[in-house]
Amino acid sequence: MDIYDEVMELARRRGFLWHSFEIYGGTAGFYDYGPLGAALKRNIERLWRRFYIAGEGFYEIETPIIGIEEIFRASGHLSSFTDPIVECESCKEFFRADHVGDRCPSCGGAFGEVFEFNLMFETSIGPGSKRTGYLRPETAQGMFVDFPRLLRFFREKLPFGVVQVGKAFRNEISPRQGLIRLREFTQAEAEIFIDPTNKRHPGFDAIKDETLMLLPEGADEASKWRLHDAVKEGVIASEFLAYHIYLTYRFLIEIGISHDRLRFRQHEADEMAHYAADCWDAEVLLDRLGWVEVVGIADRTDYDLRAHEAVSGEKLRIFRAYDETDTVKRVKLKPKMALIGPRFKDRAKKIAEALDLIDATTIGDQDIVLNIDGEEVTITQDMFESVTVEEEISGEEVIPHVIEPSFGIDRIFFAVMEHSFYQEEVEGEMRNVLRFLPGIAPIDACVLPLLGSREELLELSKQIHQNLRRAGFIVEHDASGTIGRRYRRQDEIGTLFCITIDYETIEDNTVTVRFRDSMDQVRVKVDELPDWLSRECGR
Ligand code: GLY
Repeated sequence: MDIYDEVMELARRRGFLWHSFEIYGGTAGFYDYGPLGAALKRNIERLWRRFYIAGEGFYEIETPIIGIEEIFRASGHLSSFTDPIVECESCKEFFRADHVGDRCPSCGGAFGEVFEFNLMFETSIGPGSKRTGYLRPETAQGMFVDFPRLLRFFREKLPFGVVQVGKAFRNEISPRQGLIRLREFTQAEAEIFIDPTNKRHPGFDAIKDETLMLLPEGADEASKWRLHDAVKEGVIASEFLAYHIYLTYRFLIEIGISHDRLRFRQHEADEMAHYAADCWDAEVLLDRLGWVEVVGIADRTDYDLRAHEAVSGEKLRIFRAYDETDTVKRVKLKPKMALIGPRFKDRAKKIAEALDLIDATTIGDQDIVLNIDGEEVTITQDMFESVTVEEEISGEEVIPHVIEPSFGIDRIFFAVMEHSFYQEEVEGEMRNVLRFLPGIAPIDACVLPLLGSREELLELSKQIHQNLRRAGFIVEHDASGTIGRRYRRQDEIGTLFCITIDYETIEDNTVTVRFRDSMDQVRVKVDELPDWLSRECGR
């Protein structure tokens, strides 16, 4: 067994991860989080929220998992969120065309034509299938379409950040890599709306001397870069992006990703998502799978807001005041109301307003077609003239740009499991340990009465167990098997401390506390256990 198999076997056996729908034979691309897995995942999400909500001052919102067709027409997912696919003509299995050679890897059969497969799950909204809906392929779109409401909430000022932690769905063609490629997965995404003319970050100065392993586009291998140099030399496009790459790094280290197995890789121009101008992936090194993307940090520019503006017809802009009022000359279209009035009557005013918004420099000698109240109206050349006017301008309407750190929580979960896993021989026996950090470990402590002990010790251990639970700790109780075996059981699920109740406990009211990694032991007074655990667990 390689490390991947060891970790997956442990995860299955100890209640971290199970194949979904197992009693029906399972289906690729879906996993259940068992009791310990769900607890570990929540701890990762909790720390993520601490970074982005408490730490950065962003707010979390919650939008539907099902999105309506207009959203994904605007976002480009309907037309572009596809993978090339081929079907084996013999065994009828489907494969991603860019992942296979000339013949089917399952049966050696020949492939049919390559075609594009959209990865969104489609559903219908309401009876009669009148309206198509899609399971969201990213949580991001829900935040973009709420932009006008969010702008008001944040008192019309940039920058501001919004987050969502929730499920997203991709109908992957043949997912075979455990948690790395799921059809239903959890994203934690932040969308930070910023002024497009100012991509500096107020927090950058404090971190500019920090270094990260960067693999810029076109480079053969990753090397250590000082953030200040990376921005100055244009390797990272902006301070804002660099700040968020560094924040991602700090988060990943704090949940237990190994520093030596983490790097940031810039997307090549041809692999960039359809919406991104620059994108860096946090990649972690996994035993069998090599470097795997766990976070994408993208500059999505104004792509999404501009697209939603075009499809919805709603203004998704913010007024940006200039430092000083500007006087500019503008060529505008002056309507000839003597002609327009009698011809269009009560629509004349709207026509005049619509003509005023047109950039007259783009109009040659041609008629203009306007959309007035949903109806097309042709304004012929004789009904307007071009005039040059001087206008005072105090600012302009701009579409914000968006910086997006997007975390794949399931992949991060697996990376934390694998990077925390180690094995060592102790007294001729192999011990598996998940070295989860405090705050991430699903279980804080386990209370163990000494084996073969009097009833009195068992009762006392149960009481201590209950008191610690009531004090807010996640604590197990284990009274079966040798003490060595019980320690091993706790080590391999990453329990931070084992608390042993022995005869001394009755005499002097102290317990033995064993540290998981060093296996060192100390004696702690029973009354002081909650405070001691709080301190050691970093609460
Ligand atoms: N929002 C980025 C992604 O889903 O990949």
